[in-house]
Amino acid sequence: MDRWTVVTGLAMAIGLVVGTGNDLAAQGVAPSVGPAAAQVRSAQGDRFAVVTMGRGIYNAACATCHGIHGDGRGPGARGFAQRPADFTRGVYKLRSTSSETPSADLPTDADLERTIREGMPSTEMIPFRNLLTPASIRAVVQYIKTFSKRFEETDPPAIEAKVVTLPQVRPFPPSAESVAAGREVYTARSCADCHGERGEGNADEVDTWGFRVRLVAFQNGVFKSGTSDQDLFRTIATGARGTNMEAYHGQLTEQEVWQVVDFIRSLAERPTSLLGRLSRYLFVVEPSGMTYRRPARR
Ligand code: HEC
Ligand code: HEC
Repeated sequence: MDRWTVVTGLAMAIGLVVGTGNDLAAQGVAPSVGPAAAQVRSAQGDRFAVVTMGRGIYNAACATCHGIHGDGRGPGARGFAQRPADFTRGVYKLRSTSSETPSADLPTDADLERTIREGMPSTEMIPFRNLLTPASIRAVVQYIKTFSKRFEETDPPAIEAKVVTLPQVRPFPPSAESVAAGREVYTARSCADCHGERGEGNADEVDTWGFRVRLVAFQNGVFKSGTSDQDLFRTIATGARGTNMEAYHGQLTEQEVWQVVDFIRSLAERPTSLLGRLSRYLFVVEPSGMTYRRPARR
């Protein structure tokens, strides 16, 4: 045994122990420990180390809500207005992917990383960007994928093939015209059936497993999908799987999606009093009565 084997072996052992450890200190313990290790370890070994690291992070940071078995029944989630995602089904609301058969839409790793990094504003799914390093987020994604057989059965390239091309930049700025055109799309496509005339949200929406979906009120200007126009574009284009929100990318033109985004944004109320404006700037009050700090728009 030469010196390098001993050193890298030790480093790997420490990496594994810390990776399975019970605290957020697991963050930043990158699985690679030098060129020698890369030669020794097979791709499978690498994957094992990443998943192991991900499990440690999951058990510490996610299991209270999502459950130790990933079924969304964590002890901390009792009484939540919106149940945490059940990872065992492999069905996700937020994705960049969409296909003819909705059940086939798995999210890409990048989609899952984005959800974990940015959270789902207005729900208890907090953003983890300041709590976990990018490497830790990548690892926890690999771990949550192990809860569902669907990821094992589908090659990553097959998932990537279903990514809907999303425009990086808006072709036109929001205007009174685009808002008016968006209102027409909203009416013509019966968006109001579920989201309400003024975007107040329909309390009776349920997901495919019979659990209540707590829709955001568009008037609050805070969205589970994220805070940018692109985030809204993505959800309108690809839908929210597991709920009745269809993917509209084949039904609406790109221009119509931008217009309806502008209309949705225009619904956000602007209070006139100074105090009202200040509190709207800081806090969001959902129709359910839930109040939370307004996430920064980025
Ligand atoms: C305080 C509770 C809580 C914690 C902690 C938490 N989540 Fe969540 N998470 C939720 C809730 C609630 C939802 C569902 C929101 C919804 O569907 O509207 C959710 C949804 C998700 C989704 C699914 C989104 C989709 O597209 O359907 C992912 C992925 C996720 N969480 C990952 C994680 C990971 C990984 C961690 C740990 C690093 C974590 N969550 C920690 C409450 C939590
Ligand atoms: C059959 C009911 C239904 C119809 C019709 C419908 N939606 Fe949805 N929509 C939903 C549900 C359910 C969700 C997911 C909600 C959740 O988990 O908060 C959703 C989510 C969204 C979101 C994301 C909100 C967020 O919090 O990020 C947007 C934006 C949206 N819908 C826009 C539209 C537009 C635009 C139309 C019409 C073109 C439309 N919806 C039609 C039910 C519907």
